[in-house]
Amino acid sequence: MGVSRPTLVFCVLAAAVLKFAVLCSGGITSSFVRKIEKSIDMPLDSDVFKVPPGYNAPQQVHITQGDHEGKAVIVSWVTADEPGSNIVQYWSENSNQKHQAKGEMKTYKYYNYNSGYIHHCTISNLKYDTKYYYKIGTGNTTTTRTFWFTTPPEVGPDVPYTFGFIGDLGQTHDSNDTLTHYEQNPIKGQTVLFVGDLSYADNHPNHDNLRSDTWGRFIERSVAYQPWIWTTGNHELDYAPKIGEKKPFKPFTHRYQTPHETANSTAPFWYSIKRASAYIIVLSSYSAYGKYTPQYRWLEEELPKVNRSETPWLIVLMHCPWYNSYSDHILEGESMRVMYESWFVKYKVDLVFAGHVHAYERSERVSNTAYIIVNGICTPGIDQSAPVYITIGDGGNVEGLVKIMTEPQPKYSAYREASFGHATLEIKNRTHAYYSWHRNQDGYAVKADSMWFSNRYWHPVDDSTAAHS
Ligand SMILES: [Fe+2]
Repeated sequence: MGVSRPTLVFCVLAAAVLKFAVLCSGGITSSFVRKIEKSIDMPLDSDVFKVPPGYNAPQQVHITQGDHEGKAVIVSWVTADEPGSNIVQYWSENSNQKHQAKGEMKTYKYYNYNSGYIHHCTISNLKYDTKYYYKIGTGNTTTTRTFWFTTPPEVGPDVPYTFGFIGDLGQTHDSNDTLTHYEQNPIKGQTVLFVGDLSYADNHPNHDNLRSDTWGRFIERSVAYQPWIWTTGNHELDYAPKIGEKKPFKPFTHRYQTPHETANSTAPFWYSIKRASAYIIVLSSYSAYGKYTPQYRWLEEELPKVNRSETPWLIVLMHCPWYNSYSDHILEGESMRVMYESWFVKYKVDLVFAGHVHAYERSERVSNTAYIIVNGICTPGIDQSAPVYITIGDGGNVEGLVKIMTEPQPKYSAYREASFGHATLEIKNRTHAYYSWHRNQDGYAVKADSMWFSNRYWHPVDDSTAAHS
């Protein structure tokens, strides 16, 4: 059935008016502010921090992707009483055949804190799209615990997959709300893309690493069963020369692993993975990124390698946002933006997720790459080859919400709101993905921002007019 000419004209005009309104009004600033006061870290004796029962029982169990394609998993855990075994026993759901892999164990000291025995074990050559059980704490003296995960489907262009996004989580009651809402979201996230700032242990005296342990126990209920992909934030630096701690990232590098070697990266802070139909690039805002640095050279070689016929969705994670219209952390991401933004446009990155700013913001597709020091062209402009930038540093940590915004709302900012929450991205096929942000609202998760994204490589239409739910 055809569409009548007057209807068509009306639709075109309406779309043009809507687009004009979006670009000229600077998008939507939600007046909805859920919480002004800071919430404190949950007490050490909270249920969510409980040590699992049994002698030397493995605790703080967490998994992440262990290779470039999704056929390996790194299992990590801590034992408190004695080293115990480094072995992971695992088997697929429909098989009685047990396999085992042997990992390694490490410890570290941080000021007056001595870590438990931290185990990391990579299990490889797994089958795609398969549920596996894994058992840790094997051996004579240790209490065993068993968990499970499902490997991703084989990498391919139209493979549906759902990611969750959490940032700047910390360990307050609000953090607990965010994690609970993510777990209870009927949109079932299969992997968390975490954009940095994990435990906020460094906000405690001498960076009290007991708070790294409590955080590990707090998130176990999710991350023992599905991988979280790690980005480092400023709270992972733990650079404290006054107390003799001069090596950046010390607790993070002992506690968390990333598959950086399988991505040809020389450091765990910048790397990439393929997962289903997505190619995820993780960058480090707090490692050198200027020209000629290892991170720069890695990214320069990495972006041309992304095969959009294999993984259509190109997603970048970093901690410090490039486009941020809140009062906090203004321009902190600017030097990295200057270094890399033209590459993001050239290689048509779909989405960039960052944290750091403790609030929510989504941009239009914009770029700002024309400026050289003599020409004065320094205003972000709509660019359909550019990514959408999303700030999701609203996990709920102890530092509280950022509620002061720059006014007026800049044109590039499509939606901003000072609430805690999490987001999900449901990739449907090579052309379409449904995105939604879920605010924490009085104990409930309420969808407050959502839109369909069109893939920049396969379907680069203007998807901004579909914005705003
Ligand atoms: Fe941060």
